[in-house]
Amino acid sequence: MTSDFIHKFIYSIENKEFIKITLSKPIEKNNSLENIYGKLIELKKGLFISFTFRYKMRDEVKNIEISQCEQFLKEQLGTKFLAADLMTISQHYSLKYNKKREAQLFEHKQSKPIQPIELQHDKEKKRYIHSKNNLYLEKLGIVTKNGEIIKNKEDKFRQINKFIEILDSQIKEIHFEKTIKIVDMGSGKGYLTFAVYDYLKNSLGLNVNVIGIETQEKLVNICNLIAQESGFEFLYFRQSNINDFNESDIDILISLHACDTATDDTLHKGIQSNARLIVSSPCCHKQVREQMNKSKKLLQINKFGILRERQAELITDSIRALLLEKQGYKTNIIEFISSEYTGKNLLIIASKSQAERDKEKLSAEIKELKKLFGIEYQYLEKLLEGNENDQSWRNLNPVCHIH
Ligand SMILES: C[S@@+](CC[C@H](N)C(=O)[O-])C[C@H]1O[C@@H](n2cnc3c(N)ncnc32)[C@H](O)[C@@H]1O
Repeated sequence: MTSDFIHKFIYSIENKEFIKITLSKPIEKNNSLENIYGKLIELKKGLFISFTFRYKMRDEVKNIEISQCEQFLKEQLGTKFLAADLMTISQHYSLKYNKKREAQLFEHKQSKPIQPIELQHDKEKKRYIHSKNNLYLEKLGIVTKNGEIIKNKEDKFRQINKFIEILDSQIKEIHFEKTIKIVDMGSGKGYLTFAVYDYLKNSLGLNVNVIGIETQEKLVNICNLIAQESGFEFLYFRQSNINDFNESDIDILISLHACDTATDDTLHKGIQSNARLIVSSPCCHKQVREQMNKSKKLLQINKFGILRERQAELITDSIRALLLEKQGYKTNIIEFISSEYTGKNLLIIASKSQAERDKEKLSAEIKELKKLFGIEYQYLEKLLEGNENDQSWRNLNPVCHIH
């Protein structure tokens, strides 16, 4: 039955009838993976099934070549998942396993044929920011005079579009009664700050005040000049360290690759000002990595630079997510863009929620995580503790080489 189901899946793709596939009822209950959802996408290298692994607190996407899907499904069905659904234009197939792991295949005709889902092309995705007729993109050096994206800026342009796509979907969930105050921490050359302003103000017609915070005076001056030339009245940049920015009425806080602990400063400011939404893509996780280096427990991981880096990322962002949850934020971490465009492709999305939190349980989880990996402290945790007397742990000038 399992192989029948897999054959129907392959047949539906070959005959352009495939709509979607879902694997559910995970056997392993402890790893928080709830289901896997697969849709067809076309990338430069050909057709793939894009599988979204839905965990309790985050999603992970893996694109698998069609030729590899049979093997992938064999490894999952009946061994990792006890149910699967295949939706085609005309049929709905359900595969179910009983306690003895015997499979049964059910087949239902769709009451009316489903329209095939438009194939997603990575090249033809909806753009939130348009490269043509946008003075600021030209002035920032992202496009030419004719609106062609400059070769080495294509990845940045994609990242910004994707960031805005996610921001857009989050903002739609929130009702704002007044002008929305948005702060971009570590705004750098202002690519994201300008694009967010342009989309929310000019495309959606929202009342916004957008502020970019950046330590480098030269960048701040250039950005303010371009904002003026573009007629972007409610966009301005301020030379400041994130720590010194003390305005309290921030509605939305964003950051894209704020170096190392600057991401913690960003999250901290968001929490302090009770921001409704925080969307932050972290960068270089040095603060925790340096502590990991000293940990005897992690000898095998510490041997390999790349594993050490990934591990530092996982630990840091897990702790950040738990701390945000503890502060009353519904938090999710996703890959916002494929790693072929940037290795720093995680996005922390935290929205203020009224739901009750078990703070003690969350504190215990953080403690356990730190103990497991021999971590003494995480920077955001220290900021939230707010120990004014002992600031020796501070590192105010994180230097990042990922730009
Ligand atoms: C990697 S760049 C990213 C710039 C921009 N967000 C982007 O994605 O194009 C990080 C920027 O954050 C700034 N930065 C780092 N730490 C900061 C801090 N504590 N306060 C303000 N700006 C900071 C750096 O000067 C740099 O311009």
